[in-house]
Amino acid sequence: MNFELTEEHLMIRDAARNFAQQELEADVIERDTQQIFPTAQVKKMGELGFMGMMNDPKYGGGGMDTLSYVIALEELSKIDASASVIMSVNNSLVCWGLDEYGTHEQKEKYLTPLVTGEKLGAFALSEPEAGSDATSQKTTAIEKEDHYLLNGTKNWITNGGSADYYLVIAQTHPDLKHKGINVFIVEKGWEGFEIGPKEDKLGIRSSDTHSLIFNDVKVPKENRIAEDGFGFKFAMKTLSGGRIGIAAQALGIAQGAYEKALAYSKIRKAFGTEICNHQAIAFKLADMYTQIEGARMLVYKSAIDKDNELDYDLSSAVAKLVASQAAMDVTIEAVQIHGGNGYVKEYHVERLMRDAKITQIYEGTSEIQKIVISRKILND
Ligand code: CAA
Repeated sequence: MNFELTEEHLMIRDAARNFAQQELEADVIERDTQQIFPTAQVKKMGELGFMGMMNDPKYGGGGMDTLSYVIALEELSKIDASASVIMSVNNSLVCWGLDEYGTHEQKEKYLTPLVTGEKLGAFALSEPEAGSDATSQKTTAIEKEDHYLLNGTKNWITNGGSADYYLVIAQTHPDLKHKGINVFIVEKGWEGFEIGPKEDKLGIRSSDTHSLIFNDVKVPKENRIAEDGFGFKFAMKTLSGGRIGIAAQALGIAQGAYEKALAYSKIRKAFGTEICNHQAIAFKLADMYTQIEGARMLVYKSAIDKDNELDYDLSSAVAKLVASQAAMDVTIEAVQIHGGNGYVKEYHVERLMRDAKITQIYEGTSEIQKIVISRKILND
């Protein structure tokens, strides 16, 4: 087994690192404080090929492997986890599913502008009463002559206000339960489609999160993805890949906080020496490094499983569970190592700690990952 990254992977890492340092870092605190969406930066991410990294080049995608995507996400997340979730949702939750299950016409019309960054995508599964319990969809899409009539509310939708195209999960045949669920491509601006107020969040504050309200929205039949009743499987398969992206985000947040704590410990003096010379601090750094290395192995393995067309439901849940815990633990320790400075915005680690928490919640809470893992190991 070779743990070395290829030349190509290293080039992608450097490109993402340079972009994050040059385009994201300077104003990251201001965007976080004022909840400013990074519009110009997202456009640039599209130009650099970060918005559709794994997609078919025939439709404008980068044709890269999942490991490349993970490496790029990790770099962005070290500096700005809001930018990285925007990228992750567009790549994993929107473009991947469209590419995998969409028709040629759907891909030409919707995928190409999404992968080039001309348009932005959102994935609308969660509802006020269907977050973890995803089969309990209350949003309905009832079949009429040449369209479906969409009604209901979605909650906590990342890119909710900024997106142009939405993949909306809805129930068409309630009697069939999850086998009656479909997924539709819905455009912003369609009559009856309203975007709710922006959420005021603890972390990832410059990504925008909204509820979506559908009142008799007419969705053309050709905008349903795949066969009737495939929507729940579509969501589950999409989320397995999405979890690799969020695991990479968590890894990047942890790495970013660790690097800041390491650097700080070498310049901050207490009791006559740099604080890294105190074992209390050195052991913290050792634990942080070890936890990150372990998480990275699991995140990369899951990406490689996907690239090798192996089942990645289990490895993605494991990677997300471990990497999000690492992000939480490492960022808390990074704040501790910074002492009073860790508690103020200027030193970045308090933001990374706030951002880390969401990685244990979205795309399936840690408890959901344990459901997925335990079912797999008990049933296989
Ligand atoms: N691939 C394919 N099919 C799958 C699957 C997968 N990974 N996982 C489940 N399925 C199928 C099952 O095989 C089953 O199909 P059959 O009836 O044909 O056998 C069907 O789906 C129902 O599965 P379960 O009986 O396991 O369903 P469940 O109700 O017990 O739920 C769950 C399973 C894992 C808990 C699931 O509901 C789940 O993942 N919940 C969390 C949802 C989630 O991640 N929400 C986050 C929202 S998105 C988000 O956060 C985006 C963002 O903004 C960043």
